[in-house]
Amino acid sequence: MGLIEKLEETNNMVCPWWLCYSFDNPLRRIFHKPEPLLAPWLKPGMTAVDIGCGMGYFTVGLARLTGPGGRVIAVDLQQQMLDVLQRRARRAGVADRIVLHRCQKDSLGVGGPADFVLTFWMAHEVPDKPRFFGEIFSLLKTGGQLLLVEPKFHVTLKSLERTLAVCRETGFGLQEEPTIALSRAYLMRK
Ligand SMILES: C[S@@+](CC[C@H](N)C(=O)[O-])C[C@H]1O[C@@H](n2cnc3c(N)ncnc32)[C@H](O)[C@@H]1O
Repeated sequence: MGLIEKLEETNNMVCPWWLCYSFDNPLRRIFHKPEPLLAPWLKPGMTAVDIGCGMGYFTVGLARLTGPGGRVIAVDLQQQMLDVLQRRARRAGVADRIVLHRCQKDSLGVGGPADFVLTFWMAHEVPDKPRFFGEIFSLLKTGGQLLLVEPKFHVTLKSLERTLAVCRETGFGLQEEPTIALSRAYLMRK
């Protein structure tokens, strides 16, 4: 088996909660500043969904951008991630705008309608991509946006192209490819 195949084999593995600290730490702010990074697509009052939110690196920023009249649904498979996120949200004073939702591997179980969905460094961990992007499509409003961001160092271009083909088949239209450090990013519209 070649290196590329070996790398692709690890793609469907769910990131364990303790490994999250290796990238969700203060050093990451050098590369990813949540609010300026997400500000072009968010407005006060919006409903945003952070899928595979982990410990909430982007969730708190989303909650600040959607403001007191907005709402953020933070979705993850692992309760440990949501517990850390809840503590962070309380410290940041935005816990009242964040709904925590523990999903199942084969179902997000989130109701819409949402204006914006973020999947940051997580879609490669989902084995059934047609079901996953189909659920995201259903929960978005018509005209709603999905920002798909995948890590360059971990996800091959070939597997990302397969994911983008699923998004197209689901009905998403590609709008732009924003520049995000260490990543490949795609902004899509329903
Ligand atoms: C690499 S972490 C990224 C966390 C966060 N988005 C960030 O950028 O810091 C991937 C996260 O996706 C979650 N995840 C994996 N598969 C999932 C699925 N099918 N549904 C929801 N969350 C999932 C994992 O539990 C983990 O918290």
